[in-house]
Amino acid sequence: MTGPTDPAALAVIHAESFTVPRPWGAQEIGETLAQPGSFLLTDADGFLIGRAIAGEAELLTLAVRPDARRRGTGAALVAAFLDAARARGAERAFLEVAADNTAAQALYARAGFAEAGRRPGYYRPPEGGAVDAVVMTRDLR
Ligand SMILES: CC(C)(COP(=O)(O)OP(=O)(O)OC[C@H]1O[C@@H](n2cnc3c(N)ncnc32)[C@H](O)[C@@H]1OP(=O)(O)O)[C@@H](O)C(=O)NCCC(=O)NCCS
Repeated sequence: MTGPTDPAALAVIHAESFTVPRPWGAQEIGETLAQPGSFLLTDADGFLIGRAIAGEAELLTLAVRPDARRRGTGAALVAAFLDAARARGAERAFLEVAADNTAAQALYARAGFAEAGRRPGYYRPPEGGAVDAVVMTRDLR
């Protein structure tokens, strides 16, 4: 899988993909990628940023262009994340997803993740109110 790696190009895809959580700008993407243990997986139509550190891997963000969805890109990126996490010695993977994001939750469930808990009111949508975060985990061993 290969696609754009420039934070500005990734920010365009992120802006097309998110309102909750809010989209990340190029600077935030660049700073996240510079953190220890961070890695980027890209495809022409989407990307995933993960982090693996001290035996644990976190899926930090995943976005697929709206006009390229339901073609398996998201599932392929998540599968590549699990491989990359194992290759970096992680034994467990986790992620947070908005409670109303049923598409992503279905994708993660098919990739072997299960709900492990909730963070009430974690996300603040621009239109007001609050949305819970669902914490999902998966054993990598
Ligand atoms: C979630 C997202 C990454 C999925 O990407 P995608 O490339 O469309 O996913 P895939 O085509 O690989 O879908 C794999 C499976 O996930 C599930 N799925 C994906 N989109 C779905 C939807 N809209 N509704 C229900 N299930 C869905 C299905 O089980 C699907 O398999 P199927 O197409 O055989 O039914 C994409 O919709 C997206 O970028 N959304 C906005 C950003 C976001 O929510 N990111 C994740 C939160 S961190």
